[in-house]
Amino acid sequence: MTSTPLPLFKALPCADASVDIWFNDQPLRVPGSRSVAAALLAAGIARFRATPVSGAPRAPYCMMGACFECLVEIDGVPSRQSCMVTVRDGMRIRSQEGARDLPPIPASLEDAHGR
Ligand code: FES
Repeated sequence: MTSTPLPLFKALPCADASVDIWFNDQPLRVPGSRSVAAALLAAGIARFRATPVSGAPRAPYCMMGACFECLVEIDGVPSRQSCMVTVRDGMRIRSQEGARDLPPIPASLEDAHGR
């Protein structure tokens, strides 16, 4: 006999308006007035990033900015803690795959380092 897995989270009834976002190019309607992490979890997203070394899947753990397991790219900015950012209509969110590239060195700093 197979059983249907129970959802990890059950949203409390509330009057918050839903917002439309994209996660890895998938359109989602999620509850608003909460963190990106809470909104994605409510939509059934269970994999937020992959570790740089093994590629193991990761998802939010602490929901308070301490563990960094919830890192995603939001509107083109990598390494955002999704539990610390309020979801907004139109956000484009991508899972973070492995290590991020370092940002380019500004020209003013290149001169200081003799490059
Ligand atoms: S879930 Fe721990 S830092 Fe976001």
